[in-house]
Amino acid sequence: MDLAATVAVAFWAMLPAYVPNNVAVLAGGGRPIDGGRTWNGRRVLGDGKTWRGTFVGILAGVVLALVLNALEPAAADGLGVPIPVFPLAAMVALPAGAMLGDILASFVKRRTGRERGAAFPLVDQLDFVVVALALTAVAAPAWFGDTFTLEVIAAVLVLTPLLHVGTNVGAYQLGLKDEPW
Ligand code: CTP
Ligand code: MG
Repeated sequence: MDLAATVAVAFWAMLPAYVPNNVAVLAGGGRPIDGGRTWNGRRVLGDGKTWRGTFVGILAGVVLALVLNALEPAAADGLGVPIPVFPLAAMVALPAGAMLGDILASFVKRRTGRERGAAFPLVDQLDFVVVALALTAVAAPAWFGDTFTLEVIAAVLVLTPLLHVGTNVGAYQLGLKDEPW
């Protein structure tokens, strides 16, 4: 595959993992996952990780994967490259892994004394990618191996921080998010 095709496949395959975090920003609120509990004087996760944001985020990722599967024949034709079709296990593992990675990052942030909303460079940009890929590799190993070649993974690791910074700055400027990260 040439570079453009590699980037297109990386973007398409990761879309169900990208969208949940953004949807959680819009859908978040209500009861925090940690129920307000603390550990060693600090919140376990903090008010920024809510049940509603997490579930609506995962649901959005699953629905998006279904929509992408419906669009796949047209996209493969238009782009002239084979586009991945998500099996059910990947439809769930990509968004669930993305949300779990973000939650684990908040856990680490609180343990290292970072307040809610504090920036944690690289962890903020890649936490969700690493866990989304790991969970998908376990849940749908054959599909993962076919789709996420070393080239595609390299494209994901370069593309994601750029997209993440771009969308978060946009959400901040629109007043949807409190910090631009
Ligand atoms: N959000 C949510 N549930 C999640 C993830 C995000 O409700 N599982 C919502 C929250 O309203 C959160 C906003 O999306 O404030 C932005 O998400 P994020 O930047 O991940 O959270 P922060 O508030 O910055 O908190 P943290 O420092 O723990 O990352
Ligand atoms: Mg944040």
